[in-house]
Amino acid sequence: MIPDEVVEQVSQQADIVAIIGEHVKLKKTGSVWRGPCPFHQGKGPNFSVVPGRGYTCFVCGEKGSVFTFLQKRLGMSFVDAVKLAGAKAGIEVQEVQRRREGPDPREPLWELQAATSEFFQKTLWDAPQGSAARDYLASRDVSRDLATRFGLGFASRDGEALRTYLHGLGYDDARLTAAGLYLPLEGSDQLKARFRDRLIFPILDQSGHTVGFGGRLLGPGEPKYLNSAESEVFNKGKLLYHLGAARNAIRKDDRVVIVEGYFDALRLVSVGVEGVVAPMGTALTDAQAELLGRFTRQVVLCYDSDGPGQKATFRAADLLLAKGFVVRVVTLPEGEDPDTFARSQGGAAVSRLLDEAMDVFDRKVQLLERAGWFADLQHKRQALDRLLPTIRAASDPVTRDLYLARAAEAAGVAREALVAELHAVRRGSGPRAAVQRPSRGDATAPDAYGGGPGAAPTRDALPTGPYRSGVEQGNAEQVLLRVVLTQPMWRDHVIEELGKLEESERPASVDFGGDETDGFGESASLALRDPVYGMIYRALLMVGEALSAEAIAEHLDPLAIRVYEELRADPQAVVDARASVADALRQLRGRSVDARLRALESLLPLADAAEKDALTLQIKRLADEKRSLGVQHWGMVRRSR
Ligand code: CTP
Ligand code: MN
Repeated sequence: MIPDEVVEQVSQQADIVAIIGEHVKLKKTGSVWRGPCPFHQGKGPNFSVVPGRGYTCFVCGEKGSVFTFLQKRLGMSFVDAVKLAGAKAGIEVQEVQRRREGPDPREPLWELQAATSEFFQKTLWDAPQGSAARDYLASRDVSRDLATRFGLGFASRDGEALRTYLHGLGYDDARLTAAGLYLPLEGSDQLKARFRDRLIFPILDQSGHTVGFGGRLLGPGEPKYLNSAESEVFNKGKLLYHLGAARNAIRKDDRVVIVEGYFDALRLVSVGVEGVVAPMGTALTDAQAELLGRFTRQVVLCYDSDGPGQKATFRAADLLLAKGFVVRVVTLPEGEDPDTFARSQGGAAVSRLLDEAMDVFDRKVQLLERAGWFADLQHKRQALDRLLPTIRAASDPVTRDLYLARAAEAAGVAREALVAELHAVRRGSGPRAAVQRPSRGDATAPDAYGGGPGAAPTRDALPTGPYRSGVEQGNAEQVLLRVVLTQPMWRDHVIEELGKLEESERPASVDFGGDETDGFGESASLALRDPVYGMIYRALLMVGEALSAEAIAEHLDPLAIRVYEELRADPQAVVDARASVADALRQLRGRSVDARLRALESLLPLADAAEKDALTLQIKRLADEKRSLGVQHWGMVRRSR
C-alpha cells in the first residue's frame, strides 16, 4: 500500500505530458496537448492531455490519470504505476505494510499448497511415474515450456512420496488432512491422498498464492476433473483460474477473455492471448465478476459451442451485464472448444475471432432472427420476452439504450412500446407464465461436477406434512388428480377434458439456442400447473393407469412420489365426484381463458393496426366465453376442504 499523501504528491508533480509523450506524439495547442489516441489507434488529434489533470479521448471516450495511462498502456499495477511516475518526478515512493497484527494467518496454508505444487511438478518432470503424464501432455500438444509456465504437475497413484516429502518439511499428518490433501482411511492409521494419478493444474489466487489444485485423469473415468475441497484459502466461487498471471494483460488490453476449462486457458496463452481466465467447473458467480471488475469492464465469453456452453454463455452474460460489463461472445465452429480451435487454427485465427466477437445482445437477436422468431406476432411476443430480461439486466444506461433500439428494430415495434414493457412488471404474458417446472437436479447448476463436498444435489430434505400447492386453483387440480387416481369411472372423462384444455393452451415453444427452456420440461403439464401434480399426471398419461414401482421411480421425484401416495391413499376423499369434477373443470377452464386473454392482451402493444383489429376481435370472443362460464372472478382461490 502506498500512503494517500504520496499518491497525491506524485500525481501533482509527475510530468504527465512527458510520460504520455513517450508513447504518443503530442503537440501543444493552447493550454493542452493533443495527439492521436493510442487506445483506439486514432489518426486525428482527438486525444488530449491536460497537465495536472489527465487525459481524454473525444472519440473513444478513454480518460484517466497519469497512473491509469501507465496501467492501461504498460499493464502495470497501480502501485508500480505510482512508483514509476514517482521515480521520474524524483519522489521516493515506498510501500508501507498495512497495519495488521502480524502476518496473514493464511500464510502457512499457502506455503503448504505451494510446497505440494512443487512436489507435483518434480514428479511430472523428474520421476519415472511421471512418464505417462509427460506423454499425455505431448499428445495434447503442450510443450514443456508451456506446462512449466502454468506450473503443471503430476500426482502419482501412490501418495506416500508426497506425504514423506511434506513430513520432511515439518508438516504433520494433521496438517495434511486439514488442508484436504489427505483423507484418513477408516480403521487404520493410513492416509489416502486426494489426488492420485492425475495431471495437476495448480490454482493460484489473484495475488499469486497457491491455494489449491485441479487434477485431470489421464484416461477415461469419473470425475474427469477433481478440484481441491473448499477451504479457507480455496473457494471456487471466488477464484478465477489464471487471474493472477493474467491481470496485467487484462488491464493492458482492457479486456478479459473467459473460457470454461484449464486447457482452454493454457492454449489461448500459448497462442498469445494472455488475458484469459476460467471459472472452475461452475457457473460464473457475482464474486468472480466483481473480481474481474477491478481490472476491466470488457469481457469476451469464449465457451464451448455445444448446448450447455451456449446456455452458460447467456447466463454469465446476464450476470455480467447486471454488473455493468460490456459483454461480447465468440461463436466457435460446431464441435470445437477454445483449446481445439486454437490448436488447429493458430493464434491469428483466434485473434480474429476475438476481435470479431459479437455483442451478446446482438447474438441473441441474431439467433432469434435466424430461427424466424420475429415473423409473426405470437412468436414476436415470446422473442421479446426472452430479450427483455437481458435489457433489464444491463445496468449500464448506454448499453440499455442500445439494446432497446436493437430489439425494437428487430421486432419492428415502436421503441416506446418496448420502454413501457421494460418498466411494467407484467403478470405473465401467457399460459406459460404460470407454469413452473418441477425442480430436479440441474446438470448445469453450480457444483454439478464431481469434486468438492456438497457436489450432489441433496434430495433428502423434503418438506413434511400434507402437500400444499402454491398455484391458483391448486385445489381444483388436486381434486381432479385424486379422482383420476382413485375413481376409475371418472378417469376417461377427466383425462379427455384436461386434454382439450391442454390443446387450447399449447403455445409454440421457443428454442433459444440452448438457452433456458421455456419451463415445459417433459414432466410439466399445461392443464395442471402445479409442478408436482403435473409431474404425476404426465407420468400417468405416459405409462397408463397404474404406475408400477419402476415407472414411479423413473418418472417421479421424491416429493412427487410422496404426493402420489398421499392422493391415492383415500379413495373416499372426493365425496360427490360428479359435482366436484364439474366444479374443478369449470375452475380450470376459467383460469385457462383468463390466461389466454392475458396472452392476447400482451400482444396488443406489439401489433400494427390490422393486427390490432384481429386481436380485439379474438379478445372479445374470449371475454364472451369467459362470461358464459358464469364466473366473474377467477383470480380468487377457492379453498374448499
Ligand atoms: N470441470 C470440473 N470437473 C469436471 C469437469 C470439468 O471442474 N468433472 C471444469 C474444469 O475446470 C474443466 C472445465 O470444467 O477445465 C471444462 O470442462 P470440460 O469442457 O469437460 O473440460 P475440457 O477443458 O474440455 O477438458 P479436456 O479438454 O481436458 O477434456
Ligand atoms: Mn477440452
